[in-house]
Order: sequence, then structure tokens, then C-alpha cells
Amino acid sequence: MNRENRKEQVNLRKAAVIGCGFVGSATAFSLMQSGLFSEIVLIDADMDRAEGEALDISHGVPFSRHMKIYAGTYDDIVDAAIIIITAGANQKPDETRLDLVHKNVAIFRSIIPEIAKRNCAGILLIVSNPVDILTYTAIKLSGFTENRVIGSGTVLDTARLKYELSEHLSVDSRSIHAFIIGEHGDSEIAAFSSANVSGIALSEFCEMRGHYNHEANTRQIAENVKNSAYEIIQKKKATYYGIASAVRRICEVIIRDEKSILPVSSMMHGEYGIEDVVLSMPAIVGKYGIETRVPIDLSEEEIEDLKRSAQTLKEFVGIGL
Ligand SMILES: NC(=O)c1ccc[n+]([C@@H]2O[C@H](COP(=O)([O-])OP(=O)(O)OC[C@H]3O[C@@H](n4cnc5c(N)ncnc54)[C@H](O)[C@@H]3O)[C@@H](O)[C@H]2O)c1
Repeated sequence: MNRENRKEQVNLRKAAVIGCGFVGSATAFSLMQSGLFSEIVLIDADMDRAEGEALDISHGVPFSRHMKIYAGTYDDIVDAAIIIITAGANQKPDETRLDLVHKNVAIFRSIIPEIAKRNCAGILLIVSNPVDILTYTAIKLSGFTENRVIGSGTVLDTARLKYELSEHLSVDSRSIHAFIIGEHGDSEIAAFSSANVSGIALSEFCEMRGHYNHEANTRQIAENVKNSAYEIIQKKKATYYGIASAVRRICEVIIRDEKSILPVSSMMHGEYGIEDVVLSMPAIVGKYGIETRVPIDLSEEEIEDLKRSAQTLKEFVGIGL
């Protein structure tokens, strides 16, 4: 399908959320508050759950903007501009994201063909974990062009990194430019070598704020980011507000054609010698999905870590296909 045809078929005011558990319902709630869409369809294997969430979230509409939020079926999502998939098992305490692969690939084998056979024209935004593997699965099962199958990737992890740095440096997180790249999971990499605060190199800014122990501090911050999902799951069983905010931001970038640079998960084609694996790298995102990946400067060590992260993912790629 060429880009122009697609533009005619999608309703830019419509989103679908498949999977209405913690993440799907928090996402729908966040989207309702954003006023980005005038129609949100909720789908879940448990219809009562979808209907209950739709009703509950709808009762917030009078405090937001007029919109319709309802439980539906796959026939209702054909023209949705963005189809967000959050269905599937979540991590239990001490489980890694990669431990979910078999269960969730099986769930994707039931969901993606329903979307593909209706020739849905929207962008698929994959959130379920392991998000990199499932984005690969969704690309292969849907047959859609790769630019319109996006994983939320390390957008959340990058927000966590900015939050940690912002606390450490006592500066607005929006003034911090830094990325987590690679797997959304245990092998992810904090790309500190290119990190800066409004153009000032991170280490220089740290010294401006009285922090001189760079290696220990950055190692600790990267560890905190990597382990934050484990900590939250240990304490409250699931994570959902952070990811809901990340998904809302990705939707905003797509719908408003912002061409913002986000570390979403996408298929690699030889960058840093990595191919046929989906992982997160900063990319320009707009109304057609991923426009192009942005090759940020990485140190030798970060490149080696990125290759290791890709290798970790490669061992799982293609499971169940
Ligand atoms: N990418 C991220 O950064 C991120 C962050 C948090 C959670 N997650 C992932 O999001 C997913 C959902 O987490 P959760 O906490 O909402 O789990 P949950 O158990 O609360 O919800 C999952 C929902 O999926 C539904 N479901 C299962 N199979 C389905 C199918 N075939 N069709 C439609 N719906 C189906 C279930 O009925 C349930 O309502 C998990 O895989 C979790 O790991 C990702």
C-alpha cells in the first residue's frame, strides 16, 4: 500500500487498544485525557473487562473532550490510525521480560492475523513484552511494511533515565538529551557518551552541579533504570502509568506528525553490523511511523554492548513463526 492510499483509509481521530489489563486500561485512560482521539475502541479476550474499562474511562469524558470509548471487535478497528497492542501476560516478580516470550508469541499468533486479514491501515504499536521480539513477530505475521510496525521499545526506559538524571542533577528532565538503546530489558544500554544537558556534555554538567564521581554515578543510574520495572513489580505487581505516558507520547508524535526522535523498537538493517533483529535506536517518528533511524554517536564500548544486546535478542527472534 502506498502512503497516499493509507492516508485516505485511516481515521486520524481513532485509536484501538487490544488488551485491557493494567497497561491497556492505563493507556486508554491517558489517551482519553490527552484529547488526541475522538474514538477509542477497546478489545480484550475478556469482553466484560473491555466493556467495564470502556464504561469507567468514558465517565471521565465530561472532564476532557468529547469522544467515544467503547468495547469492540476487530471489525471496529479497520480504520484506526493507531492499533496499540498491550495484550498478554505480564512479568511476575523475578521473571524477566524474555521469560514471557512463548506465552505472548502464542497470543500474538491469535491477534495479528485478525488485523492482517482485515487489511487494517493503521500503525501497529506493540507494547506487550518482550516488546522487541513481539514487534519482530508482528512484522512477520502482519506482512505490513516495517515502518508502520513500531515497538514502544526503550521510550519508557529513556524516560526513566531522564527522570533519574534530573533528580541527580536537579534540572528539568526535558532539558536532558539521553537515550537508552538496545533491548527493552536486561541487556539495554544507557548511551552516556552522547548524553548532554542542553548541549553541555553530561560529565561537564555533572561537575557544574558538584558531582565528580562519574563512573560510579552513571553506573548506578543505569542500574536503577534497568531494575526499576523489577522494583515496581515487586512492590505493586505491575507497571502501567509510566508506559501509558510513553504510549501517549508516541501516539501524539504519530498523530501530529511531529517527526520527533524517539527510541522506538524497529527492524535493524546493518546499522552497527546488526541485522534481522528488532531493537531500540533513536528514530524519527511521524504520521507514517518510522521515517528513519538516527545514528547517534556511540563509544566503542557502547557499540560492543549494543551488539551483545542484539545477540541476546537474536536467540529469541522467530520463535513460534
Ligand atoms: N513495553 C513496556 O514498556 C511495557 C511496560 C509494562 C508492561 N508491558 C507489558 O504489557 C503487557 C500487558 O501487561 P498488563 O500488566 O496489562 O497485563 P494484564 O494481565 O493486566 O493484562 C493483559 C490483558 O491481555 C488480555 N489478553 C490476553 N490474551 C488476549 C488476546 N488473545 N486478545 C485480547 N486480549 C488478550 C487479558 O485478558 C488481559 O486483560 C505485558 O506483556 C507486560 O509485560 C510492557
